Amino acid sequence: KKLAVFVSGGGSNFRSIHEASKRGSLHGDVTVLVTNKSECGGAEYAKNNGIAIILFPKAKDEPKGLSPSDLVDTLRNFEVDFVLLAGYLKLIPVELIRAYERSIFNIHPSLLPAFGGKGYYGIKVHKAVIASGARFSGPTIHFVDEHYDTGRILAQRVVPVLANDTAEELAARVLNEEHQLYVDVVEALCEDRVIWREDGVPLIQSRE
Ligand code: GRF
Repeated sequence: KKLAVFVSGGGSNFRSIHEASKRGSLHGDVTVLVTNKSECGGAEYAKNNGIAIILFPKAKDEPKGLSPSDLVDTLRNFEVDFVLLAGYLKLIPVELIRAYERSIFNIHPSLLPAFGGKGYYGIKVHKAVIASGARFSGPTIHFVDEHYDTGRILAQRVVPVLANDTAEELAARVLNEEHQLYVDVVEALCEDRVIWREDGVPLIQSRE
């Protein structure tokens, strides 16, 4: 299967997915990186590893960026099967969501539906978790719909929130789980192990 990964920042999830694919522990190829920031860590990694880069969206400082329909056409030309958002901070156009319905995913660093939505990104998520007194947190991978962080939940992992945690310490603990979780989910996708319950809840089947 062919994968497109969308990144705006450091791209550590992008990197861990690519490394798993290179090791052969993932039956998918990272075919293309989509970014709104041509200078971000993720773009740098893509350049160094010969992965194609698409700039999206078109921005004043990024005149080479694509329009939404050109983006969909380009992903189709690359024969992309799955779209993986990993720290991509721009809104995803509806054209893309429709074109990749049930094949577009995001990772969020809290146990959704808690601490999700527009204001919750980056370190703010972990600050809010600590302030709430919650004893557990962890990443969620969900299908992407037209709103922030509201699509169907596909997978989660739990980490403890320790009594003296700073937001940065909690963020690092969650990010560490994200890397493994995203690889496991992508592997399930590549092996066709995602199924839908009659009530519309997606599930991952374990290997036989
Ligand atoms: C992760 O915490 C992810 O949950 C959030 O953005 C961060 C991306 O980190 N959506 P990285 O760029 O993969 O290192």
